[in-house]
Amino acid sequence: MTRNNRIYTLPEIQKLIHAEIERESTRLAEARPENLYLPVRYILGLEGKKLRPALVLLSYNLFSENIENALPAAVAIEIFHNFTLLHDDIMDRAAMRRNEPTVHTKFGENAAILSGDVMSFISFRYLLKSKTPRLEELLLLFSDTAVKVCEGQQYDLDFERRPDVSEEEYLNMISLKTAVLLACSLKSGALLANANEEAASGLYHFGMNLGMAFQLQDDLLDTFGDENTFGKKIGGDILSDKKTYLLTKALELAGPEEKKQLLKWMGRSGSKPKEKIHAVRSIFNQLGIEKATNEKTEDYLQMAGRYLNGVPVDEIRKKELLKLALTMAKRNY
Ligand code: IPE
Ligand code: IPE
Ligand code: MG
Ligand code: MG
Ligand code: MG
Repeated sequence: MTRNNRIYTLPEIQKLIHAEIERESTRLAEARPENLYLPVRYILGLEGKKLRPALVLLSYNLFSENIENALPAAVAIEIFHNFTLLHDDIMDRAAMRRNEPTVHTKFGENAAILSGDVMSFISFRYLLKSKTPRLEELLLLFSDTAVKVCEGQQYDLDFERRPDVSEEEYLNMISLKTAVLLACSLKSGALLANANEEAASGLYHFGMNLGMAFQLQDDLLDTFGDENTFGKKIGGDILSDKKTYLLTKALELAGPEEKKQLLKWMGRSGSKPKEKIHAVRSIFNQLGIEKATNEKTEDYLQMAGRYLNGVPVDEIRKKELLKLALTMAKRNY
């Protein structure tokens, strides 16, 4: 058996992804009705981090060098991710993403709903281009993941109205809304490279833990990040009473007075946004929530590292993946 050895760097991989998304965007420029596809091209044209497709290709490249084989799945997952953002921004009443107006703000809610819908189908169409004997397995993984993301999103919405969400419930919610898609990306790469079950499952668990760390940091940045680098409005989670790790932990650690204050701010849609964000953030500061969130992130990163270590592949091949994982979890954007 000839073993393929070329190891791609992250910039090389990102270039391939960028080019393929551009190609798809160009194809969609011809598609009609124009108003259906304009928002699709708009969101795909904004500078997202494109982490998930990079995970697909890096995972594939652990085993095989013909990474073009994994490109359709990589792009499918990125398009799916972008679809979830269109709907998520409506649900979260978010006005800004990637430093630009969100789709529903720019094109209206109906456009964000329907263009989101079409993106979800385009993503399946894209996935079907994958040349692999394991297509059924891949499709099942992708569909199961999509179902889980919806479940996670529903918990996220349900929790807005509940002041008593436990840490365990929160962790389950983010594992569904965020971590499974990262895990799916990594496992897809492994399936396409026809890796064995041990490797595919190790990568899945690596992705789950990485995804948990990733969402914890997303929660942190939503309150403590810088708007220009993060690209989203700071404080959106506080205004929606999102049960982020920050708020869940704060409610757990708060003394009677802090708890009373937090509960008073929650559900007060009439209060001035800036005042509410400032007040809740001050309570987080008093309770050392930033540190607690970073510690929890670190726990998940460690766990992710252990799973990656266990993947039966030469350590040298894992370097780029490890690098990407660290930048994902220690990000400010
Ligand atoms: C945003 O994902 C949604 C979350 C799961 C936190 P990203 O932070 O990967 O968004 P883009 O694609 O880079 O804009
Ligand atoms: C995103 O969670 C999860 C999905 C999009 C499925 P968030 O609501 O925290 O993501 P952002 O912060 O809007 O990107
Ligand atoms: Mg959301
Ligand atoms: Mg959101
Ligand atoms: Mg967020």
